Amino acid sequence: MEKHICPWYLGYILANPLRRLYQNPEKILSPYLKQGMKVLEVGPGMGFFSLPMARIVGASGRIFCIDLQEKMLQSLRRRTMKANLLGRMEMRLCSESSLQIADLAGSIDFALAFAVIHEVPDQKLLLKEIYSSFKKDGLLFISEPKGHVTKEEFEKTCAFAQSNGMKIINSPNIRGSHSAVLRKI
Ligand SMILES: C[S@@+](CC[C@H](N)C(=O)[O-])C[C@H]1O[C@@H](n2cnc3c(N)ncnc32)[C@H](O)[C@@H]1O
Repeated sequence: MEKHICPWYLGYILANPLRRLYQNPEKILSPYLKQGMKVLEVGPGMGFFSLPMARIVGASGRIFCIDLQEKMLQSLRRRTMKANLLGRMEMRLCSESSLQIADLAGSIDFALAFAVIHEVPDQKLLLKEIYSSFKKDGLLFISEPKGHVTKEEFEKTCAFAQSNGMKIINSPNIRGSHSAVLRKI
């Protein structure tokens, strides 16, 4: 079945600072991030989570932002420049069927996929690619909107990740979302 991709213009709404009132990036992600970490963000949109993550990992860290839509990445690039964080971010365009991140194999500490997995046609392949990018003990944070994804569908996504060698270590409570943190085992 063809998946619905978030239209690029909705990226502006998703990156609106008012969203912080119910989904605060620092509160949600700080427990898992440290200075110097290498982070993979799948489907960053216009960077609601990317810029706060870049601040947390500091100048010695790096955020690899991989998105399907050039317009999302263009806006993310502009916001990153304005925030003076370009040196710690890398934006990459991918295809619908692959993140094209073979060069990152074994290098990533933390991966975030927020409100994106339900848009990806082959979830198993996506999770395999993310898994291959991880260092030992790599962490994957997945979150899916309750309005688009049922509890059963989210559990299926988690099961795919578990069958790819990951273990659920936490189920964060995020308003409007199903969420889980998994560790590479
Ligand atoms: C609903 S938006 C979420 C954006 C951001 N994560 C947030 O929470 O604000 C989904 C994003 O995932 C991207 N996307 C969809 N399918 C993708 C795929 N197969 N690979 C990478 N990015 C994808 C879309 O272009 C869009 O930027």
